[in-house]
Amino acid sequence: MSNFFKENINHIKNLSKDEFESLYEFTQILNSATRQDLLIEDAIDIVINVINAERGLFVKYDEENDNFSIISARKISNETITDLHEFSSGILQKVIKEKKPLLYHDVMSDPHLSQFESVQIQRIKSVIGVPIVRDAKVWGVIVADSQLDRREFTDENLLFLSFFSNLVSLALDRIIKLEELEKENQILINRLQLTEEIPEMIGNSTAMRTLTHLIHKVAMTDATVLIVGESGTGKEVAAKAIHELSKRKEKPFLAQFCGSIPDTLLESELFGYKKGAFTGANTDKQGLLEAADSGTFFLDEIADISTALQAKLLRVLENREIIRLGDVKVKKVDARIIAATNKDLQALVKDGSFREDLFYRLNVFPIRIPPLRERRSDIPLLVDFFIKKIGKKNMLIDSAAIKKLESYYWPGNIRQLINVIHRALILCDGDKLHADHIILEDQAVVETFQGTLREYEMLILKKRLEEFNHNRTLTAKSLDVSVRWIQLKLKEMGEQ
Ligand SMILES: Nc1ncnc2c1ncn2[C@@H]1O[C@H](COP(=O)(O)OP(=O)(O)OP(=O)(O)O)[C@@H](O)[C@H]1O
Ligand SMILES: [Mg+2]
Repeated sequence: MSNFFKENINHIKNLSKDEFESLYEFTQILNSATRQDLLIEDAIDIVINVINAERGLFVKYDEENDNFSIISARKISNETITDLHEFSSGILQKVIKEKKPLLYHDVMSDPHLSQFESVQIQRIKSVIGVPIVRDAKVWGVIVADSQLDRREFTDENLLFLSFFSNLVSLALDRIIKLEELEKENQILINRLQLTEEIPEMIGNSTAMRTLTHLIHKVAMTDATVLIVGESGTGKEVAAKAIHELSKRKEKPFLAQFCGSIPDTLLESELFGYKKGAFTGANTDKQGLLEAADSGTFFLDEIADISTALQAKLLRVLENREIIRLGDVKVKKVDARIIAATNKDLQALVKDGSFREDLFYRLNVFPIRIPPLRERRSDIPLLVDFFIKKIGKKNMLIDSAAIKKLESYYWPGNIRQLINVIHRALILCDGDKLHADHIILEDQAVVETFQGTLREYEMLILKKRLEEFNHNRTLTAKSLDVSVRWIQLKLKEMGEQ
């Protein structure tokens, strides 16, 4: 049993039914307050009403410096009071000393109190002071006074104010603890944001730091994210990181690769089906979008989906609804959508193969993962990470090998780097990787190629187109030529 009840159990027995009812109502008001200032406002109102006072205020008491500051004050006429001298500081001192509510009638004729200037000026007849105690110390005092002699408020009613004072103290304690927790929570969140590291995403370049910052920011929201980036840059890693850093992290993260999958198969995977929807649909089946409810759904290679499916996905994004194949029932799904592509979706919108409305629905928060050649300074860190990950903890790498890696253009990005390291580790018999162990793809071609320069140009172009999934814009960028140049070359080769 808490001290509050132990101390007051006898008093409680003496309370009248009306007082109990009022106390109950006050408890409800005080408990619903969520901030200190609101609690105080409510408490002042109650005290003013209890004694029919004309003015009420709450002063915060600073024990260390023994001074008061007005936190809130009001007159019945709704004027605000800003000067503490308008109130009796003598009453405040007494309440602080005795740590219990005090009530005075006929203040003017009380020799202890009438000496106070405020009592004279304001011609105060009745005054009440209620302490608000926290951790056995007076935290503040509610004072209410009246120029009329409020004799209807008897000394016995002070008992009621004792309860009231304790109730406010308890409510205050709850609010302050809550506020402290919230503050602490905010500090922790900030600290997390400051470190902003994602364990699976190695890199300390400006590009990577900007990226991890964006990922942390967007993870906290439910916004749809469109991740764009060349093949092997880490789009899937980024999608998973967004999920892991979000409040949905305990819920499923499901992914569907949308590239080169027959339309009907993809549709039944995404939306599910009803028994009998098509031959072979022997039972009802839940789709992945439904299974990802409350979690995150990752649509990988979104550019490759058919126009029919694009329309269905648009409905998911607009209304958060799905209909299983062969069904008529609409189901609500709450899955956060993240989509990824290595294609230029805007270009696809322009040429009509991707719906513009779907593009805008997906592009709420675009994230571009920079290709490895734009963050070459990350290569040493990445190499070190992969050497260890592959399990060769003591393997070193010399500076010539690093230089070779840093000057390559990495069309296959991080995935390609992992392969190159893997290969180098197999080739290396010692405990240090040298430049010779680093086999880069074009280098292999150069070493074995026997044809003419023109043929060599064509070979490189074809290879690069393959690496970029026949995306001419990206291929042109990687070769530092124009798209037009590529078109001309392809024409020359008779491929267009
Ligand atoms: N910053 C990084 N640090 C360490 N490993 C990474 C990083 N980014 C990507 N990887 C690794 O590189 C590989 C490719 O990453 P991921 O599959 O996410 O790329 P992607 O962009 O989805 O590629 P694709 O377009 O081919 O689907 C994975 O093995 C992943 O773990
Ligand atoms: Mg991927």
